[in-house]
Amino acid sequence: MKDGQFITLGIETSCDETSAAIVADGRKILSNIILSQTEWHEKFGGVVPEIASRKHLESICAVVEKALSKAKVSFEDIDLVAVTHGPGLIGALLVGVSYAKAVAYAIKKPLIGVNHIEGHIYANFLENDFEPPFICLVVSGGHTHLVYMEDHGKYKVLGRTLDDAAGEAFDKIARALGLGYPGGPLIDKIARMGDENTIAFPVARIKENDLDFSFSGLKSAVLNFLNHNKQKGNPVKVEDVAASFQKAVVTALVENTFEAAKRVNSQVIALAGGVAANSRLRKELQERAGNNLEVRFPPVQLCTDNAAMIACAGYYRYKQGFSSDLSLDAYANLKLF
Ligand code: KG4
Ligand code: ZN
Repeated sequence: MKDGQFITLGIETSCDETSAAIVADGRKILSNIILSQTEWHEKFGGVVPEIASRKHLESICAVVEKALSKAKVSFEDIDLVAVTHGPGLIGALLVGVSYAKAVAYAIKKPLIGVNHIEGHIYANFLENDFEPPFICLVVSGGHTHLVYMEDHGKYKVLGRTLDDAAGEAFDKIARALGLGYPGGPLIDKIARMGDENTIAFPVARIKENDLDFSFSGLKSAVLNFLNHNKQKGNPVKVEDVAASFQKAVVTALVENTFEAAKRVNSQVIALAGGVAANSRLRKELQERAGNNLEVRFPPVQLCTDNAAMIACAGYYRYKQGFSSDLSLDAYANLKLF
């Protein structure tokens, strides 16, 4: 406790960001330190798991110390240690989990393992008094789910991707366009300089009345378009391809999200995960919602991986009566739904 506030230390190392956060009473961010490893991975065009684990190991202590000093709290003030224990890269997860277990043991405070995807959803609760129920579109590098969050810890999956995740599609197309890694933010940026109506890429509808997604057909269509033009020696305007591809992804995501809201009669839609940072997706959802529906999304820096969202989700799980012990393990394919 510090000044009567319940203090959670959050730790996130599931992919290529080493992050530690101090969050008061579940929602107030006192610090949220995010050390990105992008410079170490970009020359390989994607995350190299072995490098990710080593870099987490090198930086975890300094990142936590920085989070403590920025929040002006000490280890003794911490009431709960929350850590991502899956899904993610196993070696990377193990660094965070081992560190969190050691801290919880040393300061004799409770430990809670957090599902990374639940963390993304909880980014919506930080710094405000938002509450369920709502429809949540979870779009990250590895997940694309349409979820009805009925209450804390209570989810109903209404749709999911049958193949690639939305973020994965962004990353693959960015690579094919020679934009580099990570692809989502680069496509988002370059698409603003293009015309999204130049190429009509397919928007997959799985079946009438189905809320599932599929992005592999779209991905193939973009790759075929690029190959075809390369073979013919036709110049291709990268900005237009990026914008047209982004439009197709966003259209599929938005259509199904509004359909889901209609089905469960929800007046509120929230976005979660790295792709929730996409400016075109945020704009389209807001425009279509107008004054009829409420659309929420975390600030851009809380959409991508960070430890504040893990602290927030961990706090609510702990308040529901859950906790972990020192046998807590990491799981690459941990399921939430
Ligand atoms: O949630 P996240 O940080 O990590 C995972 O849990 O996967 O999501 C990373 C994904 C990457 O695929 C990245 O390209 C995508 O989110 N992303 C974006 C944007 N920012 C990040 N995709 C589209 N537009 C963006 N602005
Ligand atoms: Zn993530």
